[in-house]
Amino acid sequence: MRDTALRYGKVTRLLHWGLAALILWQLFGMVVKVTMEKSPTVSAIVGSHQPVGLVIFVLVVLRVLWALINRGNRPAHGEGLQGLAARAGHVALYALMVLIPFTALVRAWGNQRAFAPFGFEIFPAQEPPVEWAVAVAEWHGEMGWLMLVLILGHIAMVAVHDLAWRDGTLRKMAGR
Ligand code: HEM
Repeated sequence: MRDTALRYGKVTRLLHWGLAALILWQLFGMVVKVTMEKSPTVSAIVGSHQPVGLVIFVLVVLRVLWALINRGNRPAHGEGLQGLAARAGHVALYALMVLIPFTALVRAWGNQRAFAPFGFEIFPAQEPPVEWAVAVAEWHGEMGWLMLVLILGHIAMVAVHDLAWRDGTLRKMAGR
């Protein structure tokens, strides 16, 4: 279950791949939103954005707690500049994973629309809206697109590790 210096454990893997799938779904949905004409299918995909985003936030909180519990007991980032770059990339991904859904939820609490994912009202509509809470999410979309770029970089670096350097990086998160 727990991580070791050689590989990530079952819980970390479940959180990593589960969140990867959900976050890619969010980004796919937003690509659909900005590139396609409105239709019932497009609306259904875009309509899943807020409930799925809430699930992501809950899982991210669990992921951060689990990372803290396993701190000092995970595969190392490597030496020198390369290790530093890997660590910086992971810190940036974690920061965006927290900030993107958190700021959107703060806005959902403070704006004029009720927030009712899965049919349950969590935040009623605010009248008047809470200005600072709405402003907090001003860069929500931009942070989302930045995350897409970082995810593509993350995937590219795993490919470099495995195909060029052949150091078995992917196996630590995906293999047996
Ligand atoms: C990791 C989770 C999330 C990702 C990756 C993400 C990503 C994005 C992206 C890329 C856009 C920009 C679309 C455009 O350019 O038009 C966007 C828009 C939006 N998102 Fe999210 N989102 C996430 C979570 C959430 C959550 C939790 C909520 C609400 C509770 C939410 C509500 C919205 C809304 C209302 C918009 C349209 C307004 C705006 O662009 O800020 N999102 N999201």
